[in-house]
Amino acid sequence: MWDATLGELTSLADTACAAVSAAESLHHLDELQVHYLGRKGAVAHYMNKMKELAPADRPKFGKAVNDAKERISAAVQQRRSALIAAEDARRLAAGRVDMTLPGRPRWRGARHPISQTLDDIAAIFRQLGFAIEEGPDIEDEWHTFDALNIPPSHPARDLQDTFFISASPEIDASRNRTILRTHTSPVQIRVMLRDKPPLRFIAPGRVYRNERIDASHYTIFHQVEGLYVDRKVSFAQLKGTLLEFARLYYGPHVSLRFRPGYFPFTEPSAEVDVTCTVCAGKGCSVCKQSGWVEILGSGMVHPNVFRAVGYDPDQVTGFAFGMGVERIAILKYGIDDIRLFYENDLRFLSQFA
Ligand code: DAH
Repeated sequence: MWDATLGELTSLADTACAAVSAAESLHHLDELQVHYLGRKGAVAHYMNKMKELAPADRPKFGKAVNDAKERISAAVQQRRSALIAAEDARRLAAGRVDMTLPGRPRWRGARHPISQTLDDIAAIFRQLGFAIEEGPDIEDEWHTFDALNIPPSHPARDLQDTFFISASPEIDASRNRTILRTHTSPVQIRVMLRDKPPLRFIAPGRVYRNERIDASHYTIFHQVEGLYVDRKVSFAQLKGTLLEFARLYYGPHVSLRFRPGYFPFTEPSAEVDVTCTVCAGKGCSVCKQSGWVEILGSGMVHPNVFRAVGYDPDQVTGFAFGMGVERIAILKYGIDDIRLFYENDLRFLSQFA
């Protein structure tokens, strides 16, 4: 009877070894291991039969069970190593890097030269103690003109210069039509209406004018407005502040030239030129041989402007200035056509990367 059982054991080991060698995954292999070698597995089943045998038969039978167990264990171990090696090889192949491949070029973005110029100007004024303010691009006539002492008859208010936003007849009749701001000066009004003096801030932003477009005119451009209001602000402080700005922006060698000018919102007013940085003041086509380039308008805040916002002109004084950002960038980078800033041609923009 038990020769037959020995035969069973051999064929069990054969079947088990064949199944184990064919196992396709570690998970499947684990299942086979439990099935054949586990505590309640096929081999254990024969081991339990030992009790039923005559003591004299037990050693031979026990050896046969052990042989079967060892054969199966060896097969499991071998298959396990093979499966692990195959998995390692698969992972290595999947993550393989070909070190000989050329690198992929990376596109490097760049700040637009106007944004860069605005940032540079703002950083300098922040260093000089100026806060940064902003106002809306869509403005009304009162903030843009009336409150700034610009009379209704002023040519700047003309359809030729200002973009009007179509409004209902009632709003038009109120004579305070909605427009695109033609300068950043209305931010002066908005901040003064909101806050009490002292104030010291710049207001960078976009402005719009109904211009005929050419190499030096565009319908959109940028300005940086500046305002300082306190008791006893002087024209000397205006000159000192602007000279400090010019030297920090263009370099320590530049000078400023103040020429009398006229703006309705300042009195006295000055137009300010900086040493031409293209020719270092010697005279060239950019400065029309004069050695100077105009960069901003400025002056002492007109009493009527203070009255419009409810400040007492006997108590406070102030200086204001406004500079054209495109003009400053053109001068700094030697650009000859303002339209380049708005065409978004990468051949132009990538030069500022
Ligand atoms: N708003 C003026 C313009 O657009 C520039 C300007 C001149 C601003 C003198 C000022 C100033 O604040 O004081 O042409």
